[in-house]
Amino acid sequence: MIKFENVCFSYENGTQILKDLSFEISEGETVGLIGCNGAGKSTLMKVLLGLLPHEGIVKVSDLELNKNNLEEIRRKLGFVLQDSDNQMFMPTVYEDMMFGPLNYGHTKEEAEARVDEVLEQLNLTYLKHKYNHKISGGEKRMAAIATILTMRPKVILMDEPSTALDPENRRRVINAINDLNITKIIASHDLDMILDTCDRVILMHDGKIIADGKTEDILRDEKLLEANHMELPFKLQGLREFI
Ligand SMILES: Nc1ncnc2c1ncn2[C@@H]1O[C@H](COP(=O)(O)OP(=O)(O)OP(=O)(O)O)[C@@H](O)[C@H]1O
Ligand SMILES: [Mg+2]
Repeated sequence: MIKFENVCFSYENGTQILKDLSFEISEGETVGLIGCNGAGKSTLMKVLLGLLPHEGIVKVSDLELNKNNLEEIRRKLGFVLQDSDNQMFMPTVYEDMMFGPLNYGHTKEEAEARVDEVLEQLNLTYLKHKYNHKISGGEKRMAAIATILTMRPKVILMDEPSTALDPENRRRVINAINDLNITKIIASHDLDMILDTCDRVILMHDGKIIADGKTEDILRDEKLLEANHMELPFKLQGLREFI
């Protein structure tokens, strides 16, 4: 579904941020992107979305990312920003959710059917006619995810989806992620959430891929995590005494 072949990215001042990244993500995989602050996770997502230029080859379902097919590729990708405030720009959740499908040329009835379906799927029907400025941060995050899903992306990219959520909303986001049967890429410092949602983990440091493997293998590797400025997930710390 996604392929990076020797991908590099540098800012104009010459600072190289992504350094020769190569990996493939198959359809239906849920991949966690982990690494300390500044490792390059958000940059990788922005390159995949065509928001930043790159060297090397980026492919989304066999289409090579370039100016000519940027629109077509963007339609396959849904991106949930870390800051949901910047994502919701209409007065109400309903209007935000309708915007994408209407923009893609669907009728009002078709768009509304999608909105209702997604809200039901996420147990969020109660949010439908709420004002965006009158819902909590956690609800806004859920609404942002719902908004993206109305566009039926093939791949969903989420940058820090669990940040600043209380335990209940964090759990709702985790459940929503697990209920989604599409390809998912999740960048996060919340390794417990990664453990609960991802089949595979790509660990980055200083713009490079340091490890790429099964979630359990990488998140149990205390030495590897510590060498890259991370700690074992809480869930696995608790188990350490019993191993
Ligand atoms: N406009 C810019 N010019 C130069 N360097 C930049 C610019 N924007 C970001 N960077 C650098 O790019 C690197 C990668 O940043 P990125 O946001 O991808 O990291 P990240 O892994 O998402 O970190 P975090 O966990 O903090 O979100 C950082 O070292 C950052 O300082
Ligand atoms: Mg980031």
